[in-house]
Amino acid sequence: MEFPIVRMRRMRRTETLRRMTRETTLSVDDLIAPLFIIPGSGERREIASMPGQYQMTADAAAAECAELFVLGVPAVILFGLPDKKDPKGESGVKADGVVQKATTLIKKAAPDLCVITDVCLCEYTSHGHCGLLKGDNVDNDATLKQLSRMALSHAAAGADMVAPSDMMDGRVAAIRAALDESGFAMTPIMSYAAKYASAFYGPFRDAADSAPQFGDRRSYQMDPANRREALREIDLDEGEGADILMVKPALAYLDVIAAVRERSNLPLAAYSVSGEYSMILAAAERGMLDANRAMFESLTSIKRAGADMILTYFAKAVAEEFKRRNG
Ligand code: PBG
Repeated sequence: MEFPIVRMRRMRRTETLRRMTRETTLSVDDLIAPLFIIPGSGERREIASMPGQYQMTADAAAAECAELFVLGVPAVILFGLPDKKDPKGESGVKADGVVQKATTLIKKAAPDLCVITDVCLCEYTSHGHCGLLKGDNVDNDATLKQLSRMALSHAAAGADMVAPSDMMDGRVAAIRAALDESGFAMTPIMSYAAKYASAFYGPFRDAADSAPQFGDRRSYQMDPANRREALREIDLDEGEGADILMVKPALAYLDVIAAVRERSNLPLAAYSVSGEYSMILAAAERGMLDANRAMFESLTSIKRAGADMILTYFAKAVAEEFKRRNG
């Protein structure tokens, strides 16, 4: 059947009809808010490259988390900015490290909030790479031990879930074994399974002070041109015992999200990264687009592609907007 019997515009005529035929809905349940933790107390510092985002001390983060939970956001993911860095990232595995301390405080302030911790060395190493170096190379197998120590220290501090983002081979299996041996068999792993070497991390490296001091991350993060390789990565991580898979970044990789959704029955997360956030705000600041609409459109497209949950710096803004709409 075709025009004039078929008229696609019939069902687009009113907001109510559009609401009834809408295929994808974004919900506050889908959101995970990334937070940056700094040492000290009583401080919030706005991040220049990410307007509206703050580096927070543990106590300030705990207050923020209580607010997020009341707004309906179910989870946060924590990144740490330590006061000291060294070649092995020891400040990231200490029991009293920034993320470990913040985790404990946040769980006191918002016990039912899911606290996820990012497990990676780049914020803690003096060279800014995601693992231990051997010469100018990141040593995969030596890094696994340090990552496992870090994941354990997070779990011991009360983290509900750990999320390795380093892209070393075999890290999910190594972390799973370490957690299981130490009584954390119930702590899930959200694996950054398909993480690309992306220009869209630009603002984050500023926020987390984690830029590599030499070279780049292309020997461990994925080549943006590859889709089949992402499926191999997710097969491996699923086999190693990942509980949630992640694709990162999100917007430039919607085809990868859709392909992973088809391939695996695990819950799927997508990380809408710092560049995706800052790009919208920068364009809006110059009057080029409406930030609120661009935010909803891009997050909805990530869900439409197949993501179950979205790590996004817009989490609070979306939750506040839902609250306004629902009165
Ligand atoms: C650490 C890490 C990065 C991001 C999350 N975890 C940076 C990187 O790999 O360079 C990026 C997050 C963002 O841009 O929002 N390995």
